[in-house]
Amino acid sequence: MARKKLIAGNWKMNCLQEEGLSLAKAVAAKVKAQKWDCDFLICPPFTLLTSIKKCLRGTKIALGAQDVHFAEKGAHTGDISPLMLKDAGCTYTLIGHSERRVDHFESNDLICKKAIAAHNAGLNTVICIGETGAERDAGKTIKVCQEEINGSVPDDATAKNTVIAYEPIWAIGTGKTPTAADVQEVHAAIRKALSKKLGKAVANKMRILYGGSVKPANAKELLSLPDVDGALIGGASLKAEDFIAIAVNATK
Ligand code: PGA
Repeated sequence: MARKKLIAGNWKMNCLQEEGLSLAKAVAAKVKAQKWDCDFLICPPFTLLTSIKKCLRGTKIALGAQDVHFAEKGAHTGDISPLMLKDAGCTYTLIGHSERRVDHFESNDLICKKAIAAHNAGLNTVICIGETGAERDAGKTIKVCQEEINGSVPDDATAKNTVIAYEPIWAIGTGKTPTAADVQEVHAAIRKALSKKLGKAVANKMRILYGGSVKPANAKELLSLPDVDGALIGGASLKAEDFIAIAVNATK
């Protein structure tokens, strides 16, 4: 089953206007300069969405947010609704990143609610899952991922509106990654869990990204694994050259 790879940048809480715009412009110029066989997504902080949307015009780079609220509008101080993200030019949002699960106590139930609201508004979602170091040491990686798939992914998710990102929490921002064999084993298990929940046809088409210390030096190995359909890149997405050097490995 050929799945087009997705190279996604998660800028997290980084970049003021000037820095963010010049990063987006540099990425846009590099993406425009070549014919790519993969999809691109960048997820800057909320404050940069509308200005970055302008830089991405005429490129194949999609714009995404890093979180969304489940309500359409109303009394939710500090939150951003799916319609607001659409209005700002987003076609994607990340949901359930481990930093939100930890910093904001987000549960699988809440993440699922957010995903449903995003899909209803016509946004695509990247739903993040992954185990802690302690869970990995206890041999619970696959069990945790299955539980997060079952709890966070809506029952009617499609391969079009949903992407899964497997991000072992201990690998995020640490420079550590699982072995290629471990990544493939977990991705295959995630696809099996998706198949059970959504059916084989959907699971076979749904993209599963790997995230956690992806860099130019390890991208080739990770992106060539059969069940790895792209990467969610944090630190290395803040340097246009590194982001592009990773993406080069996603094209055939
Ligand atoms: P990292 O972050 O690439 O800096 O490890 C990935 C992520 O948290 O999405």
